[in-house]
Amino acid sequence: MLIDPDQLSTPDTYFAMTQTVVPRPIAWVLSENHDGGYNLAPFSYFNAVCSDPPLIMISIGLQPDGRKKDTLENILSRPRFVVHIASCNQLDVLNQTSATLPQGESEVLAAGIELTEQDGFDLPRIADCKIAFMCEVYQISEVGNNHQSLVLGKINRIHVSDDCAEITGQGRLKIHADRIQPLSRLGASEYVDFGKVKTLKRPA
Ligand SMILES: Cc1cc2nc3c(=O)[nH]c(=O)nc-3n(C[C@H](O)[C@H](O)[C@H](O)COP(=O)(O)O)c2cc1C
Repeated sequence: MLIDPDQLSTPDTYFAMTQTVVPRPIAWVLSENHDGGYNLAPFSYFNAVCSDPPLIMISIGLQPDGRKKDTLENILSRPRFVVHIASCNQLDVLNQTSATLPQGESEVLAAGIELTEQDGFDLPRIADCKIAFMCEVYQISEVGNNHQSLVLGKINRIHVSDDCAEITGQGRLKIHADRIQPLSRLGASEYVDFGKVKTLKRPA
């Protein structure tokens, strides 16, 4: 099969892309509502895109009715956010936070998620998540015909749960992905559990 996106509708292109760019990491994004409450939502158009400065990118589309998503509204008004990496055992609660609640209504409260203060950063993080990136907005650009917003966040701090990290004999940071068990997204409503770690040196 050879797929020509020019022959597809936008929703069909979305289905083709999300089922072929797999598996995708999921950014579980906490942002601040105008009343000081917190919004949470998952985004799998997400990745690390630069190391100097350290930047991650999430791509936020519009709601089906054309409104901006609450995460984008919040980030535009209060330009900082926290990206969490969810573990496989958090799938149900992560999925709950993708519901479209009325603006200003907190997914954190609705899903009963525990937050914890983060030293040195204005926003809290999800207490149960083993990885969290405290970010400040670096740049927001709009791409495409449907006003997709590419949000670049500059990482201010990375929280790594102590039970997943160690400093090796050579003084390097080693993070044990198998202890994080990061959840990944496939197409449509499919997710995939963490697999087996393989180690292979790059050829010289
Ligand atoms: C696993 C998962 C990944 C998602 N990835 C994206 C994405 O990359 N971009 C996007 O705009 N919406 C994505 N969504 C949909 C948003 O999470 C959803 O629109 C959510 O209601 C937005 O919340 P907000 O209005 O509180 O920001 C995803 C949903 C799920 C369940």
